[in-house]
Amino acid sequence: MGQYTVSTRKNVRILLVGDAGVGKTSLILSLVSEEYPEEVPPRAEEITIPANVTPEQVPTSIVDFSSVEQTEETLGLEINKAHVVCIVYSVDDDDSLDRITSHWLPLIRSKCNATLEGDAETEAETEAAGEGLRKPIVLVGNKIDLIDYSTMDSVLAIMEDFPEIESCVECSAKTLHNISEMFYYAQKAVLHPTSPLYIMEDQELTPACKKSLVRIFKICDTDGDNLLNDYELNLFQRRCFNTPLQPQILDEVKAVIQKNVPDGIYNDAVTLKGFLFLHCLFIQRGRNETTWAVLRRFGYNDQLEMCQEYLRPPLKIPPGSSTELSHRGQKFLISVFERYDRDCDGALSPEEHKMLFSVCPSSPWSYSTDIRKSCPINDKGWVTLHGWLCRWTLMTLIDVVKTMEYLAYLGFNVHENDSLLAAIHVTRERRIDLAKRQSSRSVYKCHVIGPNGSGKTGLCRGFLVDEMQKLIGKEFKTNVVHCINSVQVYGQEKHLILRDIDVRHALDPLQPQEVNCDVACLVYDSSNPRSFEYVARIYIKYYAESKIPVMIVGTKCDMDERRQDYLMQPAEFCAKYKLLPPHLFSLRTNKKELYTKLATMAAFPHLRHFGLLTEDSKLLWKAGLGLAAATMLGFIVLKTLSAAGSHSR
Ligand code: GTP
Ligand code: MG
Repeated sequence: MGQYTVSTRKNVRILLVGDAGVGKTSLILSLVSEEYPEEVPPRAEEITIPANVTPEQVPTSIVDFSSVEQTEETLGLEINKAHVVCIVYSVDDDDSLDRITSHWLPLIRSKCNATLEGDAETEAETEAAGEGLRKPIVLVGNKIDLIDYSTMDSVLAIMEDFPEIESCVECSAKTLHNISEMFYYAQKAVLHPTSPLYIMEDQELTPACKKSLVRIFKICDTDGDNLLNDYELNLFQRRCFNTPLQPQILDEVKAVIQKNVPDGIYNDAVTLKGFLFLHCLFIQRGRNETTWAVLRRFGYNDQLEMCQEYLRPPLKIPPGSSTELSHRGQKFLISVFERYDRDCDGALSPEEHKMLFSVCPSSPWSYSTDIRKSCPINDKGWVTLHGWLCRWTLMTLIDVVKTMEYLAYLGFNVHENDSLLAAIHVTRERRIDLAKRQSSRSVYKCHVIGPNGSGKTGLCRGFLVDEMQKLIGKEFKTNVVHCINSVQVYGQEKHLILRDIDVRHALDPLQPQEVNCDVACLVYDSSNPRSFEYVARIYIKYYAESKIPVMIVGTKCDMDERRQDYLMQPAEFCAKYKLLPPHLFSLRTNKKELYTKLATMAAFPHLRHFGLLTEDSKLLWKAGLGLAAATMLGFIVLKTLSAAGSHSR
């Protein structure tokens, strides 16, 4: 962890302003030399304190201003370059205090506005302008050694009117009282600013901060009872601050919540209301850094948006490699599923599905038209754990960035205490698979291509249901592009994604992304004499020269098989191109071996020309040995495949 708990800012620039003689230069020199300088120049040179000696470990520049040496124009530039401005007054000089509101605060506001209006000349100015109208301010009352009362009452009144004031402090350059504190507050105003979190005027958290904390609360509430119990709070504490929570402190925290918001504690656990109150309290007590640390740990940047690097860490995918969920990724998704399957029926109802994604900006897919139609579901039409993992597997293959993003929203980084990259497995390149004669992947993409009405969608949907007969005569209204399920290939579970390639016109060309896949399934309607020609043309045009395994499938084989109006009949065609004989398929027979066969062909891409196997027994044996070596069960595939082949002849 660590990297996301600190502000992304790389440096801090502090500017000191205030009336002449209030002690700006003395404050800087006292900080640097740790003793009070009797003689001071009008203006201290700009100094930069190295990161390792500042409390927040960020290099910090301190800039003095002198009205004698510098013009107002320079002051304007300096104000814009600074990340925080300390307005210094002298506690024994009421005029210098009055001038904070009559002169300095309006001046700083006007300088920042001017930049926003478009006369930014330097990069630093533009950057500063982007931060919004209000430059954070710290009010510094110097020379506290001269009086025996405090000016804090007057200062607090000013703070109420000017929300950009982050904090105030009374100090003395002479006695060094509160000197390092003053610079620490200035640094904190930049690194852990209040304004994105808290509205001073209303004494309330900002809507963005509340929204982020609500999400964090839900992610930490691992048992989903809308309460954070001791176990969950401890886990949260360890993930955010790397230390366990002392039982005594935990009790104290709960007591404070209970005292201030009675419904902040329920059954000895913290409610959402209590959790939000706690953060309000941190901020009111000047402990913004605590809330910021939590927010950053959950991926938020200084503008309370989730940062790009957190959502989308760079992932290298060499050409020819694919992306799958790692074991860790799957494990995490199973735990998320189980957490939200509140009724423990092994499936997510639409309600549970909605709750699950309530910690994300939106759901990655639609429940009714996508996940239910592209993955296995239960009798009620609800998504099962198996279907859930299938849908993620699909997204990981076709849009891994989206998978990472949603894993981040769901709290992978925090729960697993690791980078998102741990959830993803990048497979080895395809050419290595081909050279080694075995695919190391566990997810394969099969494109189902055929003329209109040839039964592509039925074939795809048949993969998801137990009783394919029910699909006969069905009109598939929603156009679902992918269907995914798993099959066993030699005792190993493999996911097969069937992509329904929608052909509008027979003469439309296929796009490369429609052609490229792990195995192509070319479908014709065996009961329609005008169906095979399209398939033959597609094969010759796109696949004859490629390395992609191809299976020709004749659908609706329960009906009368018709002679095809084409130069060759499908079986002759397959023999000529050394393809496996056409596989005859029907929803009515409810046989699933087609899917296993497709996955097997994808798993052993070098055996593209199965036709060779049946013709030449020597080759058959060679291939057979290769398979046996690869899987120990290789023998069976040949039997299955040749059995399937003879069946269809
Ligand atoms: P300009 O550069 O003119 O804007 O003034 P400045 O704000 O830099 O003030 P400077 O540091 O020059 O201090 C002005 C006078 O106040 C000097 O005589 C300092 O010795 C004195 N002074 C500064 N800080 C303190 C303090 O904490 N206590 C007391 N008693 N005197 C201080
Ligand atoms: Mg000075």
